[in-house]
Amino acid sequence: MTNSHPWWEGAVVYEIYARSFADANDDGVGDLEGIRRRLPYLADLGVDAVWITPFYPSPGFDHGYDVADYVDIDPRHGTLEDFDRLVADTHALGLRLVVDIVPNHTSSHHPWFQAALRGATDPYRDFYIWRDPAPDGGPPNNWVSHFGGPAWTWDPGSDQYYCHLFLPEQPDLNWSNPAVITAFDDIIRFWCERGVDGFRIDVAHGLAKDPWFRDNPQLAPVRAGMDPRRVFDSYEHRYDLDQNPNVDVYRHWHEVVRPYGAMLLGEVGPADPVRHARYHDYGRAIHRNFYLTISWMDWDPMHLRDRIRGIHLAAPDSNAWVLDSHDTSHATTRFGGGEVGAHRALCVKTLMMALGGMQVLYQGEELGIDNGSVAPEDLADPVSTRNPGAVSGRDGARTVMPWDDGPTNGFNSGGRPWLPSAHRPREETVAGQQGDPASFLERYRTLLALRRSRPELWKTPVEWLDTEDSVMIALRRGATVVAANLDEHDAGFDLPEGEWTVLYSSRFGAPPPISDGRIDVPAETTLILGAAATADAPHHN
Ligand code: GLC
Repeated sequence: MTNSHPWWEGAVVYEIYARSFADANDDGVGDLEGIRRRLPYLADLGVDAVWITPFYPSPGFDHGYDVADYVDIDPRHGTLEDFDRLVADTHALGLRLVVDIVPNHTSSHHPWFQAALRGATDPYRDFYIWRDPAPDGGPPNNWVSHFGGPAWTWDPGSDQYYCHLFLPEQPDLNWSNPAVITAFDDIIRFWCERGVDGFRIDVAHGLAKDPWFRDNPQLAPVRAGMDPRRVFDSYEHRYDLDQNPNVDVYRHWHEVVRPYGAMLLGEVGPADPVRHARYHDYGRAIHRNFYLTISWMDWDPMHLRDRIRGIHLAAPDSNAWVLDSHDTSHATTRFGGGEVGAHRALCVKTLMMALGGMQVLYQGEELGIDNGSVAPEDLADPVSTRNPGAVSGRDGARTVMPWDDGPTNGFNSGGRPWLPSAHRPREETVAGQQGDPASFLERYRTLLALRRSRPELWKTPVEWLDTEDSVMIALRRGATVVAANLDEHDAGFDLPEGEWTVLYSSRFGAPPPISDGRIDVPAETTLILGAAATADAPHHN
């Protein structure tokens, strides 16, 4: 039998926030060599692939998501030779490597934008989105930036505005210009030739804009000094985001990466599962897509249940399940903090592991840690620094990966991290948890091993099972049953006929007993059960 399955089917991907994972040269910024040295940890954890956030040359206004050169490495992160070594070691360990690609915008320092600023006749002018001022001289429409203020900045040289859905230092590219499409084809091929196995597409839903640049409908009043995220949510993003031609770009990219066997992993924002699933286009566009909505949610069992079911229904195999990322608070913190939050996060994660598609873990998630603590004067995220007093930004999830209880928690051997944060106690570190069966790290490791050894957990068609509790989700896949009790009370559950044993519990300690085909699933716990082997169980040659 030949194995015709692409590598990303059922894969577990580990997100590395490049600046904060491991700093080999002690300059305070994480680097590729630091990542390379930590690869054995990731292989032992049991992930299949590693996704690294941008490491390209960048002035760093948005910490790498403002790219000034798409085909080189920022010296703070290393060199192309370091990258080649990283690819080789990743593959030698049986892992895959996914890099970030940022197509919605470049850095304002990118030579394309610098050329565009020279005026309307420059060949690169049309790489970006320029509009004349409104009759009152203000921005051409009411679009707002994700990070605060209007989505338009005036260029005095040409008396035109350029569009930026993020910072003014992140001008949006014009995806209706075929030259932009060609330029990105070349970038994608460059990295494929260097051996990458996939691309995480930043703001995949942002590329195309309404051709008439119409005002977005306003949903709520906006006040001065309001949190930029609330301002953003005060509009329906009908004309700036999620435009239909986006999917055409990805159908094209699908063909660009196909000869290399590489995967596309989209950061797709829309909360509506059906619009979200369009980016997969029945397997013709982006292979796997993040459903971000869940990664922004607080602990709200009913709401979580509905969101999980909704996206599973719309994208049963193409969803990339994500609970934690560099753009949100750690799930532990969002779900109540400390042990309580960490157990809730593992409960949800265990359920996700049984829902098909891809799984994405964010660095530190496997330790069950809360957000790191950053002093107000050290905050670095532009969401905070550009909107003083208004918001808590993303820094809490971006503090250094806690490896051990050394001076910088093992991030480096002492250089002040770019984002200084409170020291973490040993029990929150890899060294403190490794080998301890009552640790989150070992719970996650066991879960990943089970998923790998039991592919039916994500592969065999789902049969939903009846539950008495409204926030218990239970399903069967062949000889595997999963029962996720999101309720704050233990809840009884009748197992399907047959003999079952508990294979995994998201809670530490002995699993509850099964009696008369019934089990009490502890509060905020997910159990995975397997049918006891029987004489007529199928055997494999
Ligand atoms: C994505 C990234 C985020 C970045 C933004 C703009 O959402 O994950 O970190 O700030 O795009 O590039």
